[in-house]
Amino acid sequence: MSRLLVTGGAGFIGSNFVHHVVRRTDHHVTVLDALTYAGNRASLEGVPEDRMTFVRGDISDARLVDELVSLADSVVHFAAESHNDNSLAEPRPFLDTNVVGTFTLLEAVRRHDRRFHHISTDEVYGDLELDDPERFTETTPYNPSSPYSSTKAASDLLVRAWVRSFGVRATLSNCSNNYGPFQHVEKFIPRQITNVLEGTRPKLYGAGANVRDWIHADDHSAAVLLILERGEIGETYLVGADGERSNKEVVELILELMGEDPQAYDHVVDRAGHDLRYAIDSTKLRRELGWEPVYSDFPAGLTATIRWYRENAQWWRPAKRATEEFYQARGQ
Ligand code: NAD
Ligand code: TYD
Repeated sequence: MSRLLVTGGAGFIGSNFVHHVVRRTDHHVTVLDALTYAGNRASLEGVPEDRMTFVRGDISDARLVDELVSLADSVVHFAAESHNDNSLAEPRPFLDTNVVGTFTLLEAVRRHDRRFHHISTDEVYGDLELDDPERFTETTPYNPSSPYSSTKAASDLLVRAWVRSFGVRATLSNCSNNYGPFQHVEKFIPRQITNVLEGTRPKLYGAGANVRDWIHADDHSAAVLLILERGEIGETYLVGADGERSNKEVVELILELMGEDPQAYDHVVDRAGHDLRYAIDSTKLRRELGWEPVYSDFPAGLTATIRWYRENAQWWRPAKRATEEFYQARGQ
């Protein structure tokens, strides 16, 4: 049994990870989460009380972080401001949480010599042309486009520097776009599913040719646990499940799976600086640690996700109106 401190454990991927860890291991989890607009305590319902302690707090609060890190064996760091569109509207919180928050955690794990795993994104590598035969690998140069991805890139570089300069025992993973239960309705897939459930048309940015490489959040969780247990200190692992699809294809599939006309969506204002394509080559993770995704059938995973949103309207409805007001004001 080991004691894990999970930051951002009330968010989308963090909460999926906590459920995964509680199901698959006997570790005790302490969640540190500020419960921003993106955090939801209800995402952790059903986790047995003796397996999890929940602490509401900020990862930039050095005193609180120091205390919690001292009580843990390992830290898994998910907490972040995570939405590109928000980062274009108001970048400041992205610097505070993604950069200063990560720095605060690194100083605490350095002081207490704790194992650290840093969760990041493939967006740090910028974007690819649609016909580029190469995909992102661990050696692709960093070239982030947005305030979100540039602050994630900054946090990755801080982790690497703390490994090299201070001997911090850290690993990193950069994952592609996740989908699954408990994802905020601001994100692409839940926004479209809940639009259809509310009788509103899905909204596609621009022509919708942009490609994302979809992976189920539970496959991401399994990869993170494996890297935490068996990853080599100082190494980065790319996590992806060969799930490339254009946004247009995904919107049409959602409509079809929900029994609607696949063309019943609107084209809206494109995102500024919109990355064209992300694609991950996860050979290193597969070869060195033996990871394989379980959710290889995207339409099946999407069907289960649609069912989850249909059955859990009380979870997403409170956030829906404010989210749509934000988008409406931007013409999206
Ligand atoms: P999310 O926005 O759903 O959740 C973020 C969580 O962090 C929320 O619970 C929020 O309350 C908490 N948080 C925010 N600021 C905090 C602070 N200052 N102190 C403490 N807690 C704070 O995000 P997500 O989609 O679950 O992403 C989690 C991590 O995975 C992020 O680091 C993100 O960069 C990375 N990632 C996400 C994706 C994706 O597709 N969503 C893909 C690859 C990597
Ligand atoms: P998003 O879920 O915001 O993830 P990311 O920006 O990290 O890739 O968006 C996924 C893709 O979907 C991205 O190309 C932007 C696009 N998109 C839409 O077309 N319509 C929408 O309503 C949203 C929120 C996103």
